[in-house]
Amino acid sequence: MHPESCLTPKATDEGKIDTLSGKSILGDKWQYKELLLLADPEEQAVNKYLDDGEMFILSVDDLVVGEAVVKEIDSTTCELMNIAVLPEHQKHGYATQMLSHLASTFSGRYQKMLVGTAEPLIAFYERAGFHVDHVRANFFVDNYSEPVIENGVTYRDMTVLCRSL
Ligand SMILES: CC(C)(COP(=O)(O)OP(=O)(O)OC[C@H]1O[C@@H](n2cnc3c(N)ncnc32)[C@H](O)[C@@H]1OP(=O)(O)O)[C@@H](O)C(=O)NCCC(=O)NCCS
Repeated sequence: MHPESCLTPKATDEGKIDTLSGKSILGDKWQYKELLLLADPEEQAVNKYLDDGEMFILSVDDLVVGEAVVKEIDSTTCELMNIAVLPEHQKHGYATQMLSHLASTFSGRYQKMLVGTAEPLIAFYERAGFHVDHVRANFFVDNYSEPVIENGVTYRDMTVLCRSL
C-alpha cells in the first residue's frame, strides 16, 4: 500500500494556497459513506469492490473533500471504481487533480486504467486522458435493484473508458 503522498500545492478560487494530500486509506472505508454513495447510489454495489479496492482521500486543510477507489482487474489493468467530491467543493479541479495523482500512483504497477461511467461524464474523463473503449450493455439495469436516474435520464448501458498509464 502507498504511504501518504503530497500533491502540488494549488491556488484555490479564493487565491489562498491549500496543500492537497492523496492519502491511501487502510482502515474503515465506509467512514466516507457520503462520498462513496454520491458516485454509486447503492451500498450493495459499492461493497462489491470496496474491500478489494484501494481508497484515496483528498483533503484540503484537514477537511476530506474527495475520495477515489481503484481496484485491480488483472496484472496489467486497474479500474477506477468510484470518485466523488463533496458538492460544495465541486468545480475547483479537485477530481481532475485526483485523476492525475492516481495515474502517476498506478503507472508503475499497471499498464492501463479503466473507468465506467454514463454519458454526461464521458467528456470529463476524455479531458483527463481517457478514451472510450467499450460498452457494458445493460450494466445499470443488471447491477442495481432500483433504476439509476440522473437529471430525468434512466441509465442502462455503462460506457467504459481507458487510459494508458
Ligand atoms: C464528477 C465529479 C467527481 C467531478 O468533481 P470536480 O472536482 O467537480 O471535477 P473538476 O472540478 O476537476 O472538473 C469539473 C468538471 O466535471 C464535469 N462534470 C461534473 N459533473 C458533471 C455532470 N453532472 N455532468 C456533466 N459534467 C460534469 C464538468 O466537465 C466540469 O467541468 P466544468 O466545471 O467546466 O463544467 C463530481 O462532480 C462528483 O463528485 N459528482 C458526483 C459523483 C459522481 O458522479 N462520480 C463519478 C461517477 S462515474
